[in-house]
Amino acid sequence: MSHADAAAMRPRRFLPTGPLKGRIRVPGDKSISHRSIMLGALAVGETRVTGLLEGEDVLATAAAMRAMGASVERVGNSESGGEWVVNGVGVGALLQPEAPLDMGNSGTSTRLLMGLIASHPITATFIGDASLSKRPMGRVITPLSQMGASFEASEGGRLPLILKGTSPAVPITYRLPVASAQVKSAVLLAGLNTPGRTTVIEPVPTRDHSERMLKGFGAQLEVEVEPDGTRIITVTGEAELRPQVIDVPGDPSSAAFFIVAALLVPGSEVLIENVGLNPTRAGLVSVLRQMGGDITEVNPREVGGEPVADLLVKHSVLKGIDVDPEIAPAMIDEFPVLFVAASLAEGKTTTSGLDELRVKESDRLAVMAAALTAAGARIEEREDGLVIEGTGGEALPGTEAAIATHLDHRIAMSMAVAGLVSRGGVEVDDTRPIATSFPVFESMLAGLVA
Ligand code: S3P
Repeated sequence: MSHADAAAMRPRRFLPTGPLKGRIRVPGDKSISHRSIMLGALAVGETRVTGLLEGEDVLATAAAMRAMGASVERVGNSESGGEWVVNGVGVGALLQPEAPLDMGNSGTSTRLLMGLIASHPITATFIGDASLSKRPMGRVITPLSQMGASFEASEGGRLPLILKGTSPAVPITYRLPVASAQVKSAVLLAGLNTPGRTTVIEPVPTRDHSERMLKGFGAQLEVEVEPDGTRIITVTGEAELRPQVIDVPGDPSSAAFFIVAALLVPGSEVLIENVGLNPTRAGLVSVLRQMGGDITEVNPREVGGEPVADLLVKHSVLKGIDVDPEIAPAMIDEFPVLFVAASLAEGKTTTSGLDELRVKESDRLAVMAAALTAAGARIEEREDGLVIEGTGGEALPGTEAAIATHLDHRIAMSMAVAGLVSRGGVEVDDTRPIATSFPVFESMLAGLVA
């Protein structure tokens, strides 16, 4: 990081706190927000979105869709977030962007848009921040090349890269070599403007927001589930999408920080409203319950085609467990904060099968191991997971020096939670990345502590 960047960093010490009390409503789901703008931009006519996450990642998607001809505008303010109107151009009608598409910190924007553009006769340059420029794009370059797109990527298949799309693209059947909703979605989105049937075979189920929303927009999409759980997902192009009215449910990955904080801070009782509980995302809640966490689902309902409930979370004495690696895709973004919960639990927590955490916004195994160790937790880092010996509820000592968050919002928020349950506080080197997914995190926390 250059001196200029270092000067702009926003460090903060998160201090020990009394009980968290009250009710909050976390912002809209990031995955669903990205997809609502992308599909809205491909449907001819007006798509209206309420509860959209107005985080930097989603705004990067909005800017890219504008650069390719769609109109994406904020028109008002609803209680749970902005109200947005997207006027789409139609599948196959995206325009050539005049400038490089700046994806900021957002892997989801990058990989899904690479899919969308791959089957359009468009050339686009993708750029991003230092974190995104280290992340592997080969996982989408491989299938999209099979469909006929070509790429000039930086070393190791990374950003900056130039993508030359093609039309008509070639439909493929692609078996996912990694459990990744982003790769699945990239291929399905490319399939929208590809004549014929494009199929993704998914041996391990990942979040299914793309499938749900594609059906909602009227795409011809079939999902077959084999006896061993393998999912075979086929989209038929060239699709015609119909504009929709979408209400984005609250993001379970944002709720996660407050769920864990309320479980760990003695005397806490927090109601988190409108949390998306799609089974492909709800892994953390079930793991925390296995650890003894008191989490009650209140008023279960459906919002925007997704299961949702309010979660009542009360302080609990947690016990360490062996986390089943099969649940990893359903809580892939929640491991950093689970590691914090495990650091305060009674006994040992073992996690495994988490190689994918090494290629997120940061290497989340190495970075969390270093950060929690600095805060006084007992952590063993293995190749594919962490083993954590918890304190049995006793506060962590806390950190002297600032912990390095490596431009990773979820590291910053997880270590903020660790600070709440420390004796001396936890110093985070930079809180700016929190704005990528949860711009109101700090004010919401302040509201619960007051
Ligand atoms: C996402 C999928 C996940 C997740 C990311 C959002 C999505 O990534 O980590 O935050 O919206 O499809 P992978 O699919 O690469 O695991």
